[in-house]
Amino acid sequence: MPKLIKIAAAKDVPPGEAAAFDLEGQRIALFNVEGTFYAIGDTCTHRGGPLSEGSVAGTAVTCPWHGADFDLKTGTALGPPATQGVPSFRVVIEGGDVKIEI
Ligand code: FES
Repeated sequence: MPKLIKIAAAKDVPPGEAAAFDLEGQRIALFNVEGTFYAIGDTCTHRGGPLSEGSVAGTAVTCPWHGADFDLKTGTALGPPATQGVPSFRVVIEGGDVKIEI
């Protein structure tokens, strides 16, 4: 049964920023794109690069290690060298907190 868990205070990840958090045994990247939050697995499926440290264009992030692209909305791998996507998580904002369904 999925549950909503706080991952961060919204003010801690301002627009244009991203951060990674350990939650429920998973490393999760939280992105704030112009006020909209997206949460996906932080670990690139190619060789484990930290997606929270990648560059964001629109709603895609580029892995900082070898340049694979992932969709922030779905976790889908959009471009090589990664061929598998990462998990994505539904985000809910409640009272200044960012919560994800996990
Ligand atoms: S580790 Fe992400 S593209 Fe290689």
